[in-house]
Amino acid sequence: MDKVKEALHIGGHHHEPQEPTPDQVAQLKEKYTSAGQSQVLTFFDSLSAADKTGLFQQLSKFDPTYINTIAAKALSPPPKKDDDGGKPKEDVLEPLPESVTASILDSKPEDIEKWYSSGLDLIAQNKVAVVLMAGGQGTRLGSSAPKGCYNIGLPSGKSLFEIQAQRIVKVQRLAAKKLEAEAEDDGPKTPIAKPKVAVPWYVMTSGPTRGPTEDYFKQNNYFGLNPDNVIIFEQGVLPCISNDGKIILESKSKVAVAPDGNGGIYNALVESKVLDDMKKRGIEHIHAYCVDNCLVKVADPVFLGFAASLDVDIATKVVRKRNASESVGLILCKNGRPDVVEYSEIDQATAEAIDPKQPGVLKFRAANIVNHYYSFRFLESIPQWAKDLPHHVARKKIPYTDLETGETVKPAKPNGIKLEQFVFDVFPMLEMSKFACMEVRREDEFSPLKNAPGTGEDDPDTSRHDIMAQGKRWIRAAGATVVSEELESGIEVSPLMSYAGEGLEKFTGHTIRAPAIIERE
Ligand code: UTP
Repeated sequence: MDKVKEALHIGGHHHEPQEPTPDQVAQLKEKYTSAGQSQVLTFFDSLSAADKTGLFQQLSKFDPTYINTIAAKALSPPPKKDDDGGKPKEDVLEPLPESVTASILDSKPEDIEKWYSSGLDLIAQNKVAVVLMAGGQGTRLGSSAPKGCYNIGLPSGKSLFEIQAQRIVKVQRLAAKKLEAEAEDDGPKTPIAKPKVAVPWYVMTSGPTRGPTEDYFKQNNYFGLNPDNVIIFEQGVLPCISNDGKIILESKSKVAVAPDGNGGIYNALVESKVLDDMKKRGIEHIHAYCVDNCLVKVADPVFLGFAASLDVDIATKVVRKRNASESVGLILCKNGRPDVVEYSEIDQATAEAIDPKQPGVLKFRAANIVNHYYSFRFLESIPQWAKDLPHHVARKKIPYTDLETGETVKPAKPNGIKLEQFVFDVFPMLEMSKFACMEVRREDEFSPLKNAPGTGEDDPDTSRHDIMAQGKRWIRAAGATVVSEELESGIEVSPLMSYAGEGLEKFTGHTIRAPAIIERE
């Protein structure tokens, strides 16, 4: 474990940073002054030695000219022009072509079975890794701990991290079992060693979530996973910018910073040496997802098998848009390339258009849930394009230091921006033939935790409800009778018991009183 950590430059103790020399300070001042950002050094000369060192270290990590450039671009994206610089050209929007899409809702059972089986084989061959995006600040949820530690009130008290970890444990076991069963089928022979199936889990955190995430995993013994296969890494941060383009000071000795968005994953995979580690392990297929989805099928064999069989570089899961006015991003074909278009960017007629082949079904219905497959060969190309990924503007209330008085001010309305990259901005870089999309059932695969308790939408109650309702469906499908006093009570089926509803035959004919937990094999 320590070796891995060393190789990845993670954890461990940092050396006390050296106090900068007057020369170094002068150079830094010059750099920020010529970029028009000298306000960050307003209080520098009056700081204690330790604070001077801290601010110096923080400022040294950024290139203020680069920050100016990306902030300017984000605040005024270049207008679209046609080739001769005339009036803006209309985007051509089409649903993704059928050749690159599949839907779990209407695929042939034998196709799904084939994808499942080939995906499980890839897992058994130790070619699959998982990347978790858990660097967000979870401001809407309002908990100070990382979102993955959140207890959504299940009877078991499991957190999102624990549920997801146990799904990895389970899928490793399913893959190992398949290997063993196949070895037995090959006829009697000398017993083989128990196969060691490992799906490494790369957990992307950020400045604020890293320490607490590491502690939480340690305290919980990595939820039964081998700690060597749980690799916590950190995404980058960018300074927050005021509405007039100035880097904001959060205190006299600290610049306000925020994680660089879920698209920061690409730079972070390279800079934290995650890709090197994947290469060493022989990883070829990667599943990436967001921590807030309590129903996520981590390392889903069906999805992996589907994407690998098409030999694509990126595949994405989508759910069906509920109705024309649901506020979701859509995955579609824009000017011939795969792309994501936000709900605010399409007109009403487009939003309401009906699929000519399916009466009553929206034409543009592929709702983005940020749940992706990547080929390793694609991730290896990150250094060639990561710097071209655009930054987007998120307007926020950012506490700042008054440059006259040195006092901290908490603004009542948005006073600045955070700069964020989006994970799906890479889609248009791909030819359509290197992209695929799988529609999945929302009730089985997507229930994000976004909002504070009591909101009534995408909150801890809806998360818990969706897991318990799924468990109830699984148990009923296995032939059990579920009785409950309360209308809404469901069944929590531990991921260690069943990954996706399989293996519950022993409940056939049983009667189960809900709410209940079904805990172990
Ligand atoms: P959201 O954009 O919903 O943000 O993240 P959030 O942090 O969960 O919540 P709010 O907006 O502050 O309330 C979607 C996913 O992307 C990850 C989050 O951890 C979440 O899994 N993310 C977001 C990152 O990993 N890094 C980021 O910089 C931003």
